[in-house]
Amino acid sequence: MRATFFATTWLLLTGLSAQLPQRPSDTVVCQAPESTSIAAPGDASYWLADIKHQGVAAFNPNPSGYKVFRNVKDYGAKGDGQTDDTEAINRAISDGNRVSPESRRTSTTTPAIVYFPEGTYVVSRSIVDYYFTQLVGNPNARPVIKATAAFEGLGVIDGDVYQNDGNQGWTSTNVFFRQIRNFVIDLTDISPNKGATGIHWPTGQASSLFNIKIVMSSASGSQHQGLFIENGSGTVLDDVEIIGGLYGANIGSQQYTTRNLRISDSATCISQIWNWGWTYQGVELNNCGTAISMANGGPGSQTVGSVTVIDSDIKNSHVFVDTVWQESPWSNGSLILENVALENTPVAVQASNKTVLEGGSKTITAWGQGHSYTPAGPKNFQSAMTPGDRPRGLLAKNSNRYYTKSKPQYEKLPVSSFTSVRDGGAKGDGSTDDTKALQSVIDNARRENKIVFFDQGVYKVTNTLQFPPGIRIVGEALPVIMASGGPWTDINKPVPVIQIGQPGDTGFFEWSDMIVSTQGSTPGATLIEWNLDAEQGSGMWEVHTRIGGFAGSQLQVPDCPTVSQVSTKCQAAYMSMHITKSARNVYLENNWFWTADHDLDDPHDTRVSVYTGRGLLVEGKNVWLYGTSSEHHSLYQYQLTNTDSVFIGFVQTESPYYQPKPDAPHSPYKPNPTLNDPDFTHCLSGNCNSLGLRLLNTRDTVIYGAGLYSFFNNYDTTCSANDNNQVCQSEVFSIEGETSGLVVYALSTIGTEWMVVRDGEGVVRAGDNRATFADTVAWFKL
Ligand SMILES: *[C@@H]1O[C@H](CO)[C@@H](O)[C@H](O)[C@H]1NC(C)=O
Ligand SMILES: *[C@@H]1O[C@H](CO)[C@@H](O)[C@H](O)[C@H]1NC(C)=O
Ligand SMILES: *[C@@H]1O[C@H](CO)[C@@H](O)[C@H](O)[C@H]1NC(C)=O
Repeated sequence: MRATFFATTWLLLTGLSAQLPQRPSDTVVCQAPESTSIAAPGDASYWLADIKHQGVAAFNPNPSGYKVFRNVKDYGAKGDGQTDDTEAINRAISDGNRVSPESRRTSTTTPAIVYFPEGTYVVSRSIVDYYFTQLVGNPNARPVIKATAAFEGLGVIDGDVYQNDGNQGWTSTNVFFRQIRNFVIDLTDISPNKGATGIHWPTGQASSLFNIKIVMSSASGSQHQGLFIENGSGTVLDDVEIIGGLYGANIGSQQYTTRNLRISDSATCISQIWNWGWTYQGVELNNCGTAISMANGGPGSQTVGSVTVIDSDIKNSHVFVDTVWQESPWSNGSLILENVALENTPVAVQASNKTVLEGGSKTITAWGQGHSYTPAGPKNFQSAMTPGDRPRGLLAKNSNRYYTKSKPQYEKLPVSSFTSVRDGGAKGDGSTDDTKALQSVIDNARRENKIVFFDQGVYKVTNTLQFPPGIRIVGEALPVIMASGGPWTDINKPVPVIQIGQPGDTGFFEWSDMIVSTQGSTPGATLIEWNLDAEQGSGMWEVHTRIGGFAGSQLQVPDCPTVSQVSTKCQAAYMSMHITKSARNVYLENNWFWTADHDLDDPHDTRVSVYTGRGLLVEGKNVWLYGTSSEHHSLYQYQLTNTDSVFIGFVQTESPYYQPKPDAPHSPYKPNPTLNDPDFTHCLSGNCNSLGLRLLNTRDTVIYGAGLYSFFNNYDTTCSANDNNQVCQSEVFSIEGETSGLVVYALSTIGTEWMVVRDGEGVVRAGDNRATFADTVAWFKL
């Protein structure tokens, strides 16, 4: 996250209100039902609807009166294809003193699932999304949200409604903990001449769009757009299908990872408004005028930092990628294409209307444009590339595509397959010690082969919880496991809060939709430790760490105000996550490892100083990190040590805002040699702050997009502004020791002097690669 600090200028992109900040401040694949036709209501069941609803918002002022799970039908929505359900749906969302976009507040004490059974819900105005809201449809019979011909509002679902003062309700980069999944959104009753938007979704981390279909007018001249994102700091967008419109997706954000996006019959299937980096994987674009336009801003002021497209199919389109890149000292408009199959698409890449890569029906093995360091640079290039073979262990079986797997929703399983932790005796009230109750539910579930359901709640634990192999766990609206006191008080002795398998264990494991946190001073807590040598397909989807800055954490504004003295009571974690040497086949998607920089429950988003040691340490083999981010840990955000075969993309980091007071070498977390912590003895001149990414003795690391950001110097952003010669820190990405098979695409950094440092020597200077607000290198290879 980061707040708004820079003036923005706006470009009018379309008749719609598409605006763009020049310098933004800041394999059980889910089977989507093919048809949008409606069976008789009540035909399809879904365990999440049928399970007993006993979620508790533990730190809500009225926990017993606050409803977590809401069925829109209980609020009067009919879903009969006739009745205007707008008000009923909006009532279901707002009920219970929740925080609206109008309030401009955020809150962790009002989580909600708003559930839509099968049906066609007619709406005449926007469905107004609130903070910490999961809009969930029945995946076995996706509800249809049908906009009326006279529909008024920016999005049929509006994730950040513009207020009367002309600004979004929330600062887009501050909106967290939201999902929209399992819907069909139908705009076809709206005249094609009228601007209309399926989902307006400016958002921050820990949010997702998943298993959604948006249908619009395909008439020529249609003014509809399926997805509109004008800004934010997004993470993941998966399994979305869009048909028709002027734009399938009209999108800009700091960064994003987008998988399995299918768009057809749009004038421009993807219009990239701006970004620092965006990774598209497994997209299928069919019958587009232009499949991807990244030409916004025009030659000489291209607003798009970088686009990476891999493992994708482009069919029956005039142009695959439209760009305005030109050789220059600037590196805006970096483009990477790898393993993209074209069918009947005459122009693969055009730059300022000139064909620079012929299309046809063929596969683009690897092609790019921008600045390269292979390893000498910078060189302007616009050509085919030779990246070398992909690491085998990361590929899908019998395929040259990378392995991917969407979040399991268990939609085919009956409610009897689930066991609730609250039924099993855990309280989740934020104060009872639930360690024993949780462990016994988990152990029983393993014996009975059941899926563990964490009802919403805050489950305090005072000792390590074991997640053994064979277990599957799913949360209701991101419930929290909160480590308190116990064995986590020694800053020199890390102890896991959650332990996934013991070293030597083998088996399967799935975990989704949860948060792991700490309470008070817990400097020895490693929030998640993964030891399991897992079967492929094991993983964590939308499981986050959230350290400090929320009600109940005892790490809020009064406890941990921003001061220049490190407070021991605000030392709150040894490490967010550790994937150990014994771990194998670890699939992470949409995980946000977050040390609080501000208090989510403070009315003014006031900053806090919470100190944690390390972000994610990876020592295992065959690891996929899709759309993950790690922020504000003091030594590093990501470190890979002795790893073999790791996929990373798009990865995002931020250095702590308090640094360099103290800087990384003076962090209260001293380097631990057994974990190969950086000791910072080789820091180049300038501030020696936390490393965004450190690679030490790695084999076959492939990075498809990285944004490593350092915005602050002791809470001041002057150092990251573009128009002065300051930097916030000297280096942010360090490659050390024996390294083979490393490929880095679309690397963007902010506020650092050196983009890449190898064994203590600067090799890529940010000043040589100015792009957008970020500095960008398209291709780096050793
Ligand atoms: C996002 O865009 C809106 C205008 O559309 C602007 O008011 C707001 O400041 C922007 N926010 C960020 C974080 O860039
Ligand atoms: C990149 O963006 C900057 C800032 O907007 C602009 O000055 C520069 O000309 C752009 N470069 C290209 C190649 O578009
Ligand atoms: C490309 O061609 C179109 C149509 O002739 C024109 O409007 C546009 O300005 C051209 N773009 C560039 C970058 O030359």
